[in-house]
Amino acid sequence: MRIPFAAATILIPALLLGQALQPLAIPPLLEADTMHLVVAAHTHQFYPGVNTATYGVNGPYLGPTLVWQQGDTARIAVENQLAEVTTMHWHGMHVPGEMDGGPHSIIQPGESWTAEFPVKNPAGTYWYHPHPHMLTAKQANLGIAGFILVRDDAEAQLDLPRTYGVDDFPVVIQDKKIISTGEMVTYPLGDSLWVNGTPNAYLEVPAQVVRLRLLNGSIARIFRLGFEDDRNFDVIGSDGGLLPAPTAMNRLMLSNGERAEVLLDLTGMEGDSLLLMSYGNELGQSMPGSGNLILEYSTLNGIAFPVLRLRIVPPTADPVTAVPNLLASIPVPSEATSVRTRTKTITGNGMVAMGQFLINGLQFDMDVVNDTMLLGSNEVWHFVNNSNLAHPMHLHGVSFFVLERNGVPPPQWERGPKDVVLVDAGEDVKLIVHFGELAGADFPYMYHCHNLMHEDHMMMLQFMVVDPVTALADTPAAHALVAPSPTKGVVRFAAQFAVEHITVRDLLGRVVLDRSGPFGKEGTLDLSVAPAGVLTMELGGQGKREVVRVVKE
Ligand code: C2O
Ligand code: CU
Ligand code: CU
Repeated sequence: MRIPFAAATILIPALLLGQALQPLAIPPLLEADTMHLVVAAHTHQFYPGVNTATYGVNGPYLGPTLVWQQGDTARIAVENQLAEVTTMHWHGMHVPGEMDGGPHSIIQPGESWTAEFPVKNPAGTYWYHPHPHMLTAKQANLGIAGFILVRDDAEAQLDLPRTYGVDDFPVVIQDKKIISTGEMVTYPLGDSLWVNGTPNAYLEVPAQVVRLRLLNGSIARIFRLGFEDDRNFDVIGSDGGLLPAPTAMNRLMLSNGERAEVLLDLTGMEGDSLLLMSYGNELGQSMPGSGNLILEYSTLNGIAFPVLRLRIVPPTADPVTAVPNLLASIPVPSEATSVRTRTKTITGNGMVAMGQFLINGLQFDMDVVNDTMLLGSNEVWHFVNNSNLAHPMHLHGVSFFVLERNGVPPPQWERGPKDVVLVDAGEDVKLIVHFGELAGADFPYMYHCHNLMHEDHMMMLQFMVVDPVTALADTPAAHALVAPSPTKGVVRFAAQFAVEHITVRDLLGRVVLDRSGPFGKEGTLDLSVAPAGVLTMELGGQGKREVVRVVKE
């Protein structure tokens, strides 16, 4: 679907936009037992004299920064004052499917929804945004998004900057398309660059080690960040927590939804200023934001442009003056623990907005759950990109680790826990994922491209994480369950009755496996000899009979 904005794309004259730098807005902190988030429509002047319609959370644009301590119970009441449906998703948080705020957790206009979950994630930078089907790009772009900071004891032991707004700063980077009426349009690539909702932003930072929590909150643009003098900075954290050790670099690629925590040593630089840039001129042709003319046009494409000017002011009374050598040890599951491998192949060709991209030939269907994982299991996943564009792929409810890019271990900064991974055209990215939270058929998790144009255009599939035994206890209406599906071999089954006999049939009804027990109320069955395809498993016993479906790969 072509979005007909080309005609309406009259840029506000540069004068009206105002070249004057504005102080960077720092979202307020929200630290409460029960957090209230009110999502509503507003009007705001980002540019003097220009009214822009927005959506915001507890304010005109973006939302407060939620702070949670690991081990606490998070409780958030979300009130929808919009004239349309919304949802609220806790991106990166390890929460059960029904608390995840995905497309099934619709909040009607005028209604509220309360999420409650134990905070299990390690210290890190997460975020929240809406996830209603086909409205995510619009609502996130209009301003519904905010940071989540998780703190934990291990991080608290480290000598790191952590005074919010003083030496520890949230930095959400978004490109924006503002047309002459002041309207903010949902277009894949904008012509203006905002940080925390501030155009032409500057930030006063003390002359010491400071921490930037970077988030790419754009619809589609990929940033290649660096400082104007090519200085090194230290990446200390990725999407889902701290790295084992800081890694020094002078460029950082950040795709949609990705976060990175960065330390910058400004000791002795009082009175100086420094520009954080994005080097769009260094992006490959498959990346939204590069100069590739086949992709949608934007004045920021293919050029280096300023993101945020840092003005360096006197140090604080108790500054952090050095970057620690060691950070956190978040264990990486070994590949040997993987119970199976899934390959997700991306196909399609197109532009950022127009492309129809498929995952394993499939598109989003709200009523179809595409994969089922066993609770507590680890799996190896491959994202293989056979399309012409790079796609930032995201899984809900988990953090994963990147094992390889095209057979080679990833760079150091990508070796921490992550939940979005950029998969370039032609790449095969191998992950190991731990499925530690439950998501059943009513509220499955999503996995999708975090380019919000692609996500809204169905580049999204769904998965469940189940434990057949407890899932059955929770859903008395179901009489039997089996997982995982698809499977390559062994499945686990559970029934409400003692199973004595199992018959497996193919789609034509031919018996491919016949086993007699007794098995009891739960057990395992090896399907490796069964043919690939959709199979039915008939479980019989105690005069009862139940048929469940399982897909054999
Ligand atoms: Cu950040 Cu499914 O989303
Ligand atoms: Cu998410
Ligand atoms: Cu995509």
